[in-house]
Amino acid sequence: MDLRRDVTLGTRLAVVRAGGLAMALAGDPVLRLLYRPWIDDPSGVQRQLREAAQPYASRAGVLVVATHDLCRDLVRDRRFMVRTRSGGSLGGAVEGERDPLLEPVDLSFLGMDPPEHTRLRRLVGSWFTPARVAAYEPLVTGLAEQLVDDAARRERFDLVADVATPLPVAVIAELLGVPDEDAGSFARWGQAVGAGLGGVRSLRALHRLEAAIVELRGLLGDLLEKRRHDPDDDLISHLAAEDADVEETISLSALLLLAGFETTSTLLSNAVAAMTDAGGPWAQLAADPGRGTDAVEESLRFDAPIQFTARTPHETVRIGERDVAPDTVVMAMLGAAGRDPAVHADPDVFDLDRPTRGEHLAFSGGIHYCLGAPLARLEARVALAVLAERMPTLHREAGAVRRRSLLLRSYQRLPVST
Ligand code: HEM
Repeated sequence: MDLRRDVTLGTRLAVVRAGGLAMALAGDPVLRLLYRPWIDDPSGVQRQLREAAQPYASRAGVLVVATHDLCRDLVRDRRFMVRTRSGGSLGGAVEGERDPLLEPVDLSFLGMDPPEHTRLRRLVGSWFTPARVAAYEPLVTGLAEQLVDDAARRERFDLVADVATPLPVAVIAELLGVPDEDAGSFARWGQAVGAGLGGVRSLRALHRLEAAIVELRGLLGDLLEKRRHDPDDDLISHLAAEDADVEETISLSALLLLAGFETTSTLLSNAVAAMTDAGGPWAQLAADPGRGTDAVEESLRFDAPIQFTARTPHETVRIGERDVAPDTVVMAMLGAAGRDPAVHADPDVFDLDRPTRGEHLAFSGGIHYCLGAPLARLEARVALAVLAERMPTLHREAGAVRRRSLLLRSYQRLPVST
C-alpha cells in the first residue's frame, strides 16, 4: 500500500465530498442529483437544467447541456473528444494519465479518441452486429426463464440480485468465453469494478476496486493465453487469432464486462420499477408480452441507465449560447434529454404507447454510440417478456434503495413479490 498516495487521494476525496454537498445545498442542480430527495426523483432538477440558458455553467467547473437537441449535437460533433489536448482524462488532474478517483478503471476505447478508438472498436465490432446478436436469443431466453423460475419459488425476492444482475453477467461471460468454473469470480469482480464506474467515494472502495481489477485482469490474461492454443467460438479466441496486443485485449474484455452489465441490469430494474408503480403499465405488458420492445425503449427514455456523458473540444466551438474554449468539459445530460417536452409530450409519465419512445439518447450517439445496444435490447426485451408472462401480478415491496451515483441511475435493491 502506498501511504503517501492514499493520504493525497483521501484528502482530495474529503474535499470533493464536502464541496459537492455545499454546492448542492447552495442550489447547484448538477450536484443535487447526488443527494436525496433529488436522487429519488430527478425530474425537477432535470427540468431546471433544461430551462437554464444552455450550456449551463455548474459550480463544479463544467458546462452542462440538457436539452435533447443539444445533447444529440454534442455527442455527434467530431470536434468534441473524450480526452484533453494533452491526452488527459476529462477533469483529470494528471496529464496523459487516468485520474484514479474520477476514472478508476481503464475504459479501453470508450476513453480514447480516433485513431486508436477506431482501430479497437473495429476489432470487436463484428461481434455486436444485430445478426450476430440475434443468435444469442435462445441462450438469453433459457437463462432468463431459469432465473425467473428460481425467483418465483421465493414469492418475494430482490429483482436486482436475483434476476437483473445475473442475466447480463452470464451473457457476457458466454460471449467472452469465460469457463463455467470461473463465472462466479468473474461476476464478483465485475460487480466490484462496476460499482466504481462512476468514480469512487472512499479510499476503502478504491482499494477494493483496485484489488478486483488485478484479479479480473489475471483471469482474462490466463484465458487469452489458453485460447491462443485452444481456440473456441468466443470473443477472446477471436482476439487471440487477430494477434491483438495482450494488454489491449485485457482492457477491451474488461470494458465489455463493465459497459455491458451494470447498465443492462439497471435498465431491467428501472423498467420493472417504473412499470409496477401504482397505475403503471405492468398489466398491459403482462396481457401482451410481445410489447417487450416498447417497454425497453420507453424505459430507456424515462430513466436512462447512464445519465450523462462528457466531451471536450480541442478548438473553440460555439454550442447553444456560449463559445466553449478548448479543454472545457461539457456534460451531456442524456437522462434529462429523455424527459425533454420539446420531443416527448408529458415526459414525466411512463407510457408504453408513446409514439416518440424510441427517440432517446440512452445509448449516446456519434462515434461512441453504444456498441452493445443490440445485445442490451435483446436481453431486456426477453427478460421483461418472461417476467411479465410468468409474474403478471408482480409488484413492488417496501425497501427499494437507489444507488447514490451521478452516472448510473440504478437500484441497489428492488424488493418485489409475485
Ligand atoms: C441498457 C444497457 C446499456 C446502456 C444504457 C449503455 C449505454 C452506453 C452509452 C451511453 C455509451 C456511450 C458513452 C459515451 O458516449 O461517452 C456506451 C458505450 C459503450 N457500450 Fe453500452 N450501454 C448498455 C449496454 C451495453 C452492453 C450490453 C455492451 C456490451 C456487451 C455495451 C458496450 C459498450 C461499449 C463497448 C461502449 C463504448 C463504445 C465506444 O466508445 O465506441 N454496452 N454505452
